[in-house]
Amino acid sequence: MSFIKKKADWDTINENHITPESVYLNRRRFLKAMGVGTISAGLLATGFHSQLYADPGVPGTAFEGIKRNPLFDNVGRDMTREDLVLGYNNFYEFSTHKRLVAGLAKDFKLDPYTLSIEGLVDKPITLGIEDIEKMGLEERVYRFRCVEAWAMTVPWIGLPLHKILKKAGVKKQAKYIRMISFHDPKQAPGQEDKQYKWPYYEALSIPEAMNDLCFVALGLYGKRLAPQSGTPLRIVVPWKYGYKGPKSVVKIIVTDKKPNTFWHDLYPKEYSFVSNVDPTVPHPRWSQATERLLNTGDRVPTLAYNGYGAQVADIYK
Ligand code: MTE
Repeated sequence: MSFIKKKADWDTINENHITPESVYLNRRRFLKAMGVGTISAGLLATGFHSQLYADPGVPGTAFEGIKRNPLFDNVGRDMTREDLVLGYNNFYEFSTHKRLVAGLAKDFKLDPYTLSIEGLVDKPITLGIEDIEKMGLEERVYRFRCVEAWAMTVPWIGLPLHKILKKAGVKKQAKYIRMISFHDPKQAPGQEDKQYKWPYYEALSIPEAMNDLCFVALGLYGKRLAPQSGTPLRIVVPWKYGYKGPKSVVKIIVTDKKPNTFWHDLYPKEYSFVSNVDPTVPHPRWSQATERLLNTGDRVPTLAYNGYGAQVADIYK
């Protein structure tokens, strides 16, 4: 691609791997129409850091007094460099090119922001970020694995999703949660692209959503989530491929019907509902046996359930 001067190792997995060529080519036309096709990757990778805000409560500002949960400290891998995590993103609402997302999303904010929990709950609730922060936050280092076979290790700040779901009270007959991202094409030009069904939506079964690993993240590296990371709140499901964790989520609907999911609806043969990290199940177009670490470019074996089998394998028995 014209705007990547020198490919890093992990760029050998192209962003067009996640979708067929026809869709990828449409995206290129879309980028061209936006006039961003010639921006240099170097500028994009470094320029946005200075754009992070300094006031309390806004993206990029530091959390204070958050302790790392010792149960989620050592994942047997080095932490991925923050600049890589902030400069290499999948956030299709802004761009389908990972290195363009940070620049295009730099002014993105959801203000006012609320997260609502509705559907089969005892008490539907609507929470602001402050309400969620008051519930108690912790830091957890998790492995993260994208379906495109790149992987990183990141320190998230947030809380287990079950704490929020329990506040609303999940009814007995509930079987799934449906998670819905923001919808605002004025801020997110990718949402003008009608080949996708916006807003982004994902889903989990109730046992998955209630598992202690399933995390609501408000921050990364000690700071509130940057726009490109899914400000102000995203879901992280570390034993599943990254697309199961929607960014900038505004609504969770508890339901007894199996919900559709964004990527499965587009390409049912490529992206299953469950989408657990599994080295033995190749993607139809590439192997999942190994993964490339963003930090070093090294290829390492993929771990079943991304290494979290002890915590989650029972769900699938
Ligand atoms: N959430 C929304 N709303 N839109 C997206 O395009 N991409 C998913 C997931 N959540 C996506 C999303 C995919 S494919 C991945 S791999 C991760 O976000 C990427 O997270 P990162 O950019 O912080 O690495």
